[in-house]
Amino acid sequence: MIELMENIAVGTDIENISRFENKSLENDNAFLNKIFTENEINYSFSKSKPSQHLAARYCAKEAIIKALNSLSNLKLLYNEVEILNKPDGSPFVNLINYNNKFCTQISLSHCSDRAIAFAVVSNIRSENVKS
Ligand SMILES: CC(C)(COP(=O)(O)OP(=O)(O)OC[C@H]1O[C@@H](n2cnc3c(N)ncnc32)[C@H](O)[C@@H]1OP(=O)(O)O)[C@@H](O)C(=O)NCCC(=O)NCCS
Repeated sequence: MIELMENIAVGTDIENISRFENKSLENDNAFLNKIFTENEINYSFSKSKPSQHLAARYCAKEAIIKALNSLSNLKLLYNEVEILNKPDGSPFVNLINYNNKFCTQISLSHCSDRAIAFAVVSNIRSENVKS
């Protein structure tokens, strides 16, 4: 059982949505493009309050990266952890270049001022486990 749990890790993050409001970002395309993929930017800006969705995606990236740090020495960039949505709205993770190495689950939530994400990551291949 302990060996099984060593192959699973969790991560979480919470952010102030104000950090991602249009006012702060309108002159900062460099920040947007460094952190988010084109799909994430398009999804977020298709919503009435893009900052809520950007903040939730930022939390999701942090949560995934925290979980991965417990499992692996892999250092992913923020825009290598892409958060997409299924047709029913539920989010899923596209680990760009690493989908064949890890299984991921993510849950997001946001209210007027904060966003939060919770992630579960497990190894697919045992060589990723820290020795
Ligand atoms: C889906 C639902 C749980 C979201 O709850 P909420 O309190 O409105 O919103 P929250 O802030 O807590 O969560 C929003 C996040 O939930 C996630 N979400 C959306 N639909 C989801 C679903 N079907 N399952 C799991 N997560 C879902 C998304 O990640 C969303 O954030 P995002 O748009 O930035 O990606 C709620 O709307 C619900 O129960 N709906 C009933 C099912 C429904 O109406 N589906 C419509 C699509 S067919």
